Amino acid sequence: SKGDFEHYMLKEIYEQPELIRSLTQYYFQGEGKESLEEATKLPMKAVNISACGTAFYAGLVIKDYIESKNRVRCFADIASEFRYRNPILDKEELAMFISQSGETADTLAAQSMCKEKGLKSLSIVNTEGSTLYRDCDVNLMIRAGVEIGVASTKAFTQQVLTGKTLSEVLAHGGIDDELRNTLASRYSLLAERVEQLLDNTKPIKDVADAIYKHKGFFYTGRGAYFPIAMEGALKLKEIAYVHAEGYASGELKHGPIALIDEEKVNVALVGEELFEKTVSNIQEIKARKGLIVSIGPKNRYELKEVSDHYIELDFEGLGDLAPLYVNVVNQLLAYYIAKNLGTDIDKPRNLAKSVTVE
Ligand code: M6R
Repeated sequence: SKGDFEHYMLKEIYEQPELIRSLTQYYFQGEGKESLEEATKLPMKAVNISACGTAFYAGLVIKDYIESKNRVRCFADIASEFRYRNPILDKEELAMFISQSGETADTLAAQSMCKEKGLKSLSIVNTEGSTLYRDCDVNLMIRAGVEIGVASTKAFTQQVLTGKTLSEVLAHGGIDDELRNTLASRYSLLAERVEQLLDNTKPIKDVADAIYKHKGFFYTGRGAYFPIAMEGALKLKEIAYVHAEGYASGELKHGPIALIDEEKVNVALVGEELFEKTVSNIQEIKARKGLIVSIGPKNRYELKEVSDHYIELDFEGLGDLAPLYVNVVNQLLAYYIAKNLGTDIDKPRNLAKSVTVE
C-alpha cells in the first residue's frame, strides 16, 4: 500500500535511504555473497552492457565506474539497438544486462544473442525468477523490493550501487571485512544525505512551483552527471508530459543552444569535477536568456551568480556516489512538476511498467 504517501512514486523515492543501507549486508554477509563471488570469476576482457530506458542510464553510470576504477573497456548499448547491430563480441568478454522487471523484450533478446555467441551473462536485476534471472549465468539482485510506480526511481539507485559494488570488489581483489566496512560507511553517508534531502523537500518544491509552466527543459551534466541528466529528463517527460532532453554540458553549443530563449529551462547538474567548465557552459545558456536551475555543491559563489534557482547540496565525502544524490533531486523535481500539472504520476499515459513487446 501507499501508506501515507499520495503516490507510489513518492513512497518509492522515500524508500531509498533504507535500501541503500541494506546492500552491503546482503552482499558481504548475506545471501548475495555467493553470486557476487561468482560474478568476479566471469570472463571480463571487456564488458558489454545492454538495457532499456532508466536501466540503460544506470548502465552508463556503471560503465563509468568500471572504466575508471577497473580500467576494463566497457560498452553500453540500448538493447533494441544492440541486438540488431551485429556487435563485435568475444567469448572472453562479459555480457551484462540491467533490468528492474527482468521481462523487457529487447533486453531478453540481447541476452539470448550473447548466449548464442558463447558469452557468459550477468544480470543486475530486481525480480527473482524473472526470465532474465533464469537465463543469465549469474544474477546480482538489486534488492529494491516491488516497484509499482511506472517511473523507475529506487530501482535506478540500487542498480547503480549494485554495479558499483561489483566494481569495488574487482578493484579490491575480493570480498572481505575491510572492503565491507569501507563500502558500508560510504553507502550510509549517501543514505544520510538522501535522508536530509527527503526531510526537507521545500527548496525543490519551490523550484517546481516556479518552473512547471515552462515548455522545454534541458538537463545537462558532465561525466557521470551526463547519464544522470538523461535520466532526469526521462523522468520529467514520462510523468509530466513536457519536453525534456538530457545533454552533455559541452554539447549544447553544437546545435541545441539555438533553441534557448526565456521559455527554456536548463537544469544544470554540477559536480566537483570540471566545475569551472560546467559553470561556463551555464553562462552560455544564461546569455541566451535561458532560465537556470543548478543542482550542485553548496556555497559556491560562481553557481549562485549564474543561477535563477540554486539547489545546494552537501557533496562532502561522497566522491563518485554524488551523482546518485543529485539523481534523487531530479526524481523529486519531476514529481513536484508533474503534481502541479495534474498528470497521472503512477500510471502515465501510453506507458506500461514492463515493456514485453519489441
Ligand atoms: O524493467 P526494466 O528495467 O527492463 O525496464 C526498462 C525500461 O522500460 C524502464 O526503465 C523505463 O524506462 C521506465 N519507465 C523509466 O522510468
